[in-house]
Amino acid sequence: MAKLIARPAARLSGRVRAPGDKSVSHRALMFGALALGETNISGLLEGEDVLATAAALRALGAEVEHLGTGLWRIRGFGVGGGREPGDVLDLGNSGTAARLLSGILASHPFTSFMTGDASLRSRPMQRVIEPLSRMGARFEGRDGGRMPLAVIGTDEMVPIEYRLPVASAQVKSAILLAGLNTAGETTVIEPEATRDHTERMLRHFGAEVRVSPAEGGGKRITVVGWPELKGRDIVVPGDPSSAAFAVVAAAIRPGSDVTVENVGVNPLRAGLYECLREMGADIAFENPREVGGEPVADLRVKGGGLKGIEVPAERAPTMIDEYPILAVAASCAVGTTHMLGLAELRAKESDRLSSVAAGLAANGIRHEMGADSLAVHGTGAPPDGGGLVKTHLDHRIAMSFLVLGLATREPVAVDDGSPIDTSFPGFADLMNGLGAKIEPA
Ligand code: S3P
Repeated sequence: MAKLIARPAARLSGRVRAPGDKSVSHRALMFGALALGETNISGLLEGEDVLATAAALRALGAEVEHLGTGLWRIRGFGVGGGREPGDVLDLGNSGTAARLLSGILASHPFTSFMTGDASLRSRPMQRVIEPLSRMGARFEGRDGGRMPLAVIGTDEMVPIEYRLPVASAQVKSAILLAGLNTAGETTVIEPEATRDHTERMLRHFGAEVRVSPAEGGGKRITVVGWPELKGRDIVVPGDPSSAAFAVVAAAIRPGSDVTVENVGVNPLRAGLYECLREMGADIAFENPREVGGEPVADLRVKGGGLKGIEVPAERAPTMIDEYPILAVAASCAVGTTHMLGLAELRAKESDRLSSVAAGLAANGIRHEMGADSLAVHGTGAPPDGGGLVKTHLDHRIAMSFLVLGLATREPVAVDDGSPIDTSFPGFADLMNGLGAKIEPA
């Protein structure tokens, strides 16, 4: 295990560029593989999660070439044109790879096998098994549908109309991907809006995707089967979930002035930024523009003066990966921050609600954890720190608590920084370039 320590830092300053968006990167590779012809991607995140997707797509028969930093070329096999993988697909730590690929695998007439690291093997797959089984695929997994998982696919899927029982873009995407190789129209109803990168990018590749209001609230998303997807050029915007660490680090260090360039600000991903502004953070969205069909801006953050807020449950889908770093911001604010609607945090790379609460406790930060809620009490004074935080194979726990260590009285250590490479290779160097002090312990 690679223990890391973050030492209290003075003010942070400088300009950095956010790494490529993980969600968009997985989809760019997958949709490139499902298209005919060449897809050229720039700005791809070269984190371990995305590389696991690239390897799986190669095993399915796509030609995937790495041309240079962030530059990738794919020659796809077309909708329904994948071949039976010769071995178990190892998706490492990546829930997105596992859930989205399950939709592709389920709609091919062969049996394939998926596994992953200890974190991924403990995560629920039943949420995709259930709808994909209704469409005609079969699955054999461990208790609760956990991986390793055998996917017994078919090219005679039946279209369904499925109401999502949990707000999950991964489940929505798995069904829409299966719907591509299904005759007729496959519909997902989402009561709460989740990130829409799949819908946006499927259209870009030439699929017909219709979105309309659902009866009783939410959205109906319909994909028409058997489209001819054509290879396209894709520019991947920077990841708001990764940018969040530098933004919060600057916001909690008074006197800081940091610009994070090229941050995706899709409203379905931007809940953290809304919270930070409500907390009184000074964040300017500079140079707003479109990159690869997604809204992007440069975020200029000046540090100091945060106060506690109420974060409503409805905001959760737009910031589901950002609660650990929000809890860090809340620890440095004056007053209490209440976060509600957090049940899904328990199904992430770790039980994130418990991991965050344990990390706060280890660093002397007052808080209360409920079944699906968290209250963090800040005083405005630097929190104690001095703790050793268990990361449980969870990159966002590691990065969040290293950011905390920049603002505490004593250094904060994490027991294992290696999961950071799943989503943010070069995290420590980038942060240290802004004036942080993160190093091996
Ligand atoms: C993702 C969706 C989210 C998020 C994950 C990436 C995606 O998961 O937590 O990091 O790319 O679709 P859920 O949709 O399961 O909440």
